[in-house]
Amino acid sequence: MTTTHPTASGVETLAARFPSGFLFGAATSSYQIEGAVDVDGRGPSIWDTYSHTPGRTAGGETGDVAVDHYHRFREDVALMADLGLSAYRFSIAWPRIVPDGDGEIEARGLAFYRRLVDALVDAGIEPVVTLYHWDLPQALQDRGGWANRDVVDAFTRYATIVHDHLGDAVRTWTTHNEPWCASFLGYGLGRHAPGLTDPRAAFRAAHHLLLSHGDAVAAMREQAAGDDHRFGIVPNLYGVIASGDDEADRRAAATIDALQNRLWLDTTLLGRYPDEVLDLHERFRAGDTVHDGDLERIAQPLDVLGVNYYSQHHVQAGEGEPTYDSAHPGSEHVDWLAPPEPTTEMGWGIEPHGLRDLLQRLHAEWPVPPILICENGAAFPDADVDADGVVQDADRQQFLADHLAAVADAIDAGVDVAGYLAWSLMDNFEWAYGYAKRFGIVRVDYDTLERTVKASGRWYRDLLAAHRQQT
Ligand code: NOJ
Repeated sequence: MTTTHPTASGVETLAARFPSGFLFGAATSSYQIEGAVDVDGRGPSIWDTYSHTPGRTAGGETGDVAVDHYHRFREDVALMADLGLSAYRFSIAWPRIVPDGDGEIEARGLAFYRRLVDALVDAGIEPVVTLYHWDLPQALQDRGGWANRDVVDAFTRYATIVHDHLGDAVRTWTTHNEPWCASFLGYGLGRHAPGLTDPRAAFRAAHHLLLSHGDAVAAMREQAAGDDHRFGIVPNLYGVIASGDDEADRRAAATIDALQNRLWLDTTLLGRYPDEVLDLHERFRAGDTVHDGDLERIAQPLDVLGVNYYSQHHVQAGEGEPTYDSAHPGSEHVDWLAPPEPTTEMGWGIEPHGLRDLLQRLHAEWPVPPILICENGAAFPDADVDADGVVQDADRQQFLADHLAAVADAIDAGVDVAGYLAWSLMDNFEWAYGYAKRFGIVRVDYDTLERTVKASGRWYRDLLAAHRQQT
């Protein structure tokens, strides 16, 4: 693991560890950056409703304006080109394409993403599409949202509409971003839209997200007929570290591992549910959610596995009275331990070796297709723009360098990693935390919406230039 601040030669040494054709890029998502929520026929999403509900987000902040990417996308693509990105991951806002979820198609929404994709392709940047990054049309939520099985067909239809429209220019398609957050944070803990605290609904949502992933991949693959398209999903995965060697501690870690990692990997890659999750289905009366044949539909062959990695979980067996932890319904016998210091501004541990270990574990335990790191990054309290026009964010630069070195270690150990997309291209709406938490390698001034490349972004540009020169 690299532990020193890379110098210019450090950048060259690091770049040399990645094969030619390795994608280096950055990621964003629609609701976090676009703004323009009532423009060109966009329908309301569950995040509009949630963020406009008093008490749900820090300071009552919303994505109404966000960083106004909808109107400034050309400037943003120029910024990406200036940074030398070879790939850019973004999400499509379902309510721009099918405003009420399963009815009329909005041509102006499709036209926006066509303009964006064309601009990327013209700039030599590979678009990586995510179809669902949490902005469900509100009209579908009014009918139960992800807890209602009908959403599966609505999502599959929406996916094929977008794929039909952009498939000539976009090769890499991912269905769901962090389905654990969409189901458990949204329906179990209420910390994300739609804000429910209903464990049964959370398990139902998780299943329907998985089923809609499988159906959408199958339908898009049929449409692609012979085109070299890559299909995948993007779970958020974690190392889960038991504090002790006790059997009870190991069981606690196994429960969290099943909910956080294996629920998404065993189903999509092996066509089965972890036993721990099946037990929880029984306990929360969600067993009838899984129909005969569903697991075959979910386990479609994949061409790419997206991985979002931020940190590890440290747990031990719970003591005393069980407390209900609805982020992981059924995990009340688990105590969460503080991560090792220092942490990021989110309070998340900084554990680059956890990324290397995760990648090696994926390679060893599941039949994984090539892996694309779809998100990795950190929030730190940034300095303002200094007199030289620079935002000094050495801690973010160090975070990225150390995690990239961990990816290179995994590649050396034989893991097939196709690319790395930093989270995030620019500061944006960090969900319930609002705008205070900044993850960008580009700073956004929220008064003027001006973009300024941070020191970490300049360093990333140097790294990518070094990689291009070497390969
Ligand atoms: C993962 C999510 O996909 C993204 O939307 C979020 O901003 C980052 N994590 C940071 O929390």
